[in-house]
Amino acid sequence: MKLIIINGPNLNLLGKREPDIYGNQTFEAYLSDLKNQFSAIELAYYQSNIEGELIDKLHEVGFDYDGIILNAAAYTHTSVGIGDAIKAITTPVIEVHISNVTSREAFRHTSYVAPNAVGIISGFGFKSYELAIRSFL
Ligand code: DQA
Repeated sequence: MKLIIINGPNLNLLGKREPDIYGNQTFEAYLSDLKNQFSAIELAYYQSNIEGELIDKLHEVGFDYDGIILNAAAYTHTSVGIGDAIKAITTPVIEVHISNVTSREAFRHTSYVAPNAVGIISGFGFKSYELAIRSFL
């Protein structure tokens, strides 16, 4: 099974960014734990702060991979382009968030990803990614 985690803007700063919300761990450290935990699957990772690059990556993997775990971060709440890209590809997408977006500001309650995703996992910290992998398995 071939899965990819795609992280959007500002998630390169995990570990330093608002640790009260997102924790102290870097994503790279968590990813290496995940890869050990799920050694039987091919688990790729991509992060970009640029909307068009995220769309290009969705196009690149979206007809080939078995699943996409997408934390589009702030673009979740704004990007018609990312929403359309998910509609255009055939690989199923699970929307994930580290924080519980529905318990935060109202603008975080809108998602352009969710209407075309299999489902949403939000609020379990980094474990949200693990739960998404388990869902694909
Ligand atoms: C986030 C939630 C978004 O609202 C926010 O813009 C992020 C991170 C999360 O993982 O909790 O950057 O996607």
